[in-house]
Amino acid sequence: MDIAAADELLTTTRSVRKRLDLGRPVDPRLIERALEIALQAPTGSNSQGWHFVVVTDAAKRAGLARLYKRAFELYTSGQIPGRAELPPDDPRAAQLPRILDSATYLAQHLHEVPVHVIACVEGRVEEAGTLAQASVYGSILPAVWSFMLALRARGVGSAWTTLHIMFERDAGELLGIPPTVTQTALLPVAHYTGAAFKPAKRLLAPDRTHWNAWGKRRSA
Ligand SMILES: Cc1cc2nc3c(=O)[nH]c(=O)nc-3n(C[C@H](O)[C@H](O)[C@H](O)COP(=O)(O)O)c2cc1C
Repeated sequence: MDIAAADELLTTTRSVRKRLDLGRPVDPRLIERALEIALQAPTGSNSQGWHFVVVTDAAKRAGLARLYKRAFELYTSGQIPGRAELPPDDPRAAQLPRILDSATYLAQHLHEVPVHVIACVEGRVEEAGTLAQASVYGSILPAVWSFMLALRARGVGSAWTTLHIMFERDAGELLGIPPTVTQTALLPVAHYTGAAFKPAKRLLAPDRTHWNAWGKRRSA
């Protein structure tokens, strides 16, 4: 395996919003191949309850974009609880204005993105315990990330989004998704423009790694 290439893919696959090429269609066979790859991901008890709804129909994309925009406006107007305030010296605080700018662009242009993919999983767990929740969500989310990586390797960008889930039932009615199925993410998918992507500035792994007990660093 080419480790350098794998590391590059894993460290530079970003949420693509402003660099989605809205004027270029995506070959459906490329989507199908990326989904084949995604379905190599693990699932709890080998359940394989995954489903991907690929939306290319313009009227349906417009409908999803309307729901997403409504949710985005509720979220950004502070009517939906978001993340706790960060201290100004936290690196995540510095990244927020850029993310908000990019997320606003996506909310305004989602209907123009040529492909939307909604990742779904069989079952509902809102009333279930944490083991069931972890098992059901954990049985779709690795496949979603693999899908994003496989797209990226082929010059196609995407962004993990969840805001439309505020109106999950409306999206389900629009697309005929049964109410027994859980929608977990909506990925706008398009070829990306511009050159390479860079690794992001993240919290440091040693600060988030606990060896043998919570809060313990690895002894040298
Ligand atoms: C569970 C989850 C939900 C997210 N929901 C949204 C969303 O609704 N809208 C959006 O624009 N980005 C969303 N994002 C993307 C994050 O904002 C993004 O991953 C983060 O800002 C880091 O940027 P990067 O992916 O480019 O490294 C979501 C990401 C995750 C993992």
